[in-house]
Amino acid sequence: MAVVLEAMNRGKFGREDYLKYFDSAVFLKTFHCDGQETSIAIKTHFHFIVLFPFVNNKSNQWKLTGRRLLDIGTGPTIHTVISASNCCDTIYLSDFAPQNRETLRKWLKGSLQHSFRSFFQYVVDREGKGELPSDREAMLKDKIVGIFPLDLLQAEPLLPSLFPTFDINTSSLCMKVAAPDLAGYEIIARSVGKLLKEGGHIALFGVPEGSFYQVGSHIFYCLKISGEQVQEIWKRSGFKIVGWMQNASLGQHDTSLSDFEGVFHMVAQKSL
Ligand SMILES: C[S@@+](CC[C@H](N)C(=O)[O-])C[C@H]1O[C@@H](n2cnc3c(N)ncnc32)[C@H](O)[C@@H]1O
Repeated sequence: MAVVLEAMNRGKFGREDYLKYFDSAVFLKTFHCDGQETSIAIKTHFHFIVLFPFVNNKSNQWKLTGRRLLDIGTGPTIHTVISASNCCDTIYLSDFAPQNRETLRKWLKGSLQHSFRSFFQYVVDREGKGELPSDREAMLKDKIVGIFPLDLLQAEPLLPSLFPTFDINTSSLCMKVAAPDLAGYEIIARSVGKLLKEGGHIALFGVPEGSFYQVGSHIFYCLKISGEQVQEIWKRSGFKIVGWMQNASLGQHDTSLSDFEGVFHMVAQKSL
């Protein structure tokens, strides 16, 4: 495994790209604008799909609850944990890039220029309990234990590994940007699995096929992987797929920004 991980640390999928070129503010403006103010953004509703396992369907089939939740590769945005904040006691955010962790810290302290207000509005509207978006944002902040460095290319991604295993992992658009190939994706799936309790769940949001995305003038490469391949890898890595939703027509977007084809959401349970 050490050899594969070493290879994963080199080349265009290397972490250097994220250290040098990932501009948190431009990423937020491009992909997570609050409201409709940008014309080049992927439509914001595309991102909201990531919330569904936590607020969704009448059968509650995917309703996930647990005490401790880890969001993997949070980036500079918190949309992955807004609806989840109702379903767990504590939340750990994480990312490889220090500038993203700093952006999250600014949001936590209330000094970030960017606003996530319409995202909170969307969630409380869907939940239909009359909660104010500002109250929900305060509740989410209260539940955040910390913002931690995490590197999926390490055998133990969350170092120092002082944390007990988690009940829920969430992750959006992170594993395929870190994985250089399918074998590497599987190594990542297995090490992410070790962060979860037996019987714990991962809720994963992704885009099938896409091979790049653009932030400002920089192109970031990612692994072209189909929905079927994602499911196969997680199954081989000790998970049972308990929810899968794929929609080719969601996420209509400017193809110069990214070449992905639709979106998927997976909920998988670590085998007992
Ligand atoms: C496309 S962004 C997704 C951010 C956010 N989760 C979202 O859905 O918008 C990819 C994220 O993966 C992070 N990342 C890249 N390589 C990583 C690695 N080796 N380990 C952990 N995170 C990594 C980047 O810093 C970035 O925040």
